[in-house]
Amino acid sequence: MTTPGSHYFDEDPTAESSPRDIALLLPDATFTLTTDRGVFGYEHIDGGTKLLLLRAPAPAAVGDLLDLGCGYGPIALTMARRSPEATVWAVDVNERARALCVANAERNGLANIRVCAPDDVPPDVRFATIWSNPAIRIGKPALHSMLMRWLGLLAIGGEAVLVVHKHLGSDSLQAWLTSAGHAAHRHGSSGGYRILRAGAKVVD
Ligand SMILES: C[S@@+](CC[C@H](N)C(=O)[O-])C[C@H]1O[C@@H](n2cnc3c(N)ncnc32)[C@H](O)[C@@H]1O
Repeated sequence: MTTPGSHYFDEDPTAESSPRDIALLLPDATFTLTTDRGVFGYEHIDGGTKLLLLRAPAPAAVGDLLDLGCGYGPIALTMARRSPEATVWAVDVNERARALCVANAERNGLANIRVCAPDDVPPDVRFATIWSNPAIRIGKPALHSMLMRWLGLLAIGGEAVLVVHKHLGSDSLQAWLTSAGHAAHRHGSSGGYRILRAGAKVVD
């Protein structure tokens, strides 16, 4: 929930804080997560996020992994639990979301998560796996530039797994990713959500 004129992707949400706890139940993990107003998914775990967590192939076991647009952290925490030897970078522009993600990682005993603003990720980090429920509502130009920036940091052989609703342009996004050199295919779909898998750019 946001106040009029504010968005879940604001850097500093103006919505009055009203934290609440929600449960994320997966076959292999259970988390209690604190969320808040002014952050995406305040009421419940987003349906697309849940589908991604149920269907995505296992993240790389080691190396650097990325949750692009971490919100309060359901994706980052799941990656960290499934790949305890890896380092999970949880990135978001929303300061309140980052604070929640830090607290949720700590509360759930996960020490392999680094939460930071996008520009605070060291420039030499390359990601073996990227998972994201991307912020489609920032608009197509901003979305495309965000995806080019981060998918461009995939390690050789690395893979991004994205969840996007068909009404929010999943099919055109798949085509655009492929045209941009990140061969993308549909891994699964349910309830209108598509899971897309996109590879690192092939360099000759
Ligand atoms: C659809 S929400 C997903 C949140 C969380 N991963 C989840 O599944 O509940 C997208 C997130 O991307 C963040 N975001 C928007 N623009 C961003 C950007 N340029 N870089 C990083 N994160 C961004 C938003 O603040 C928001 O938290």
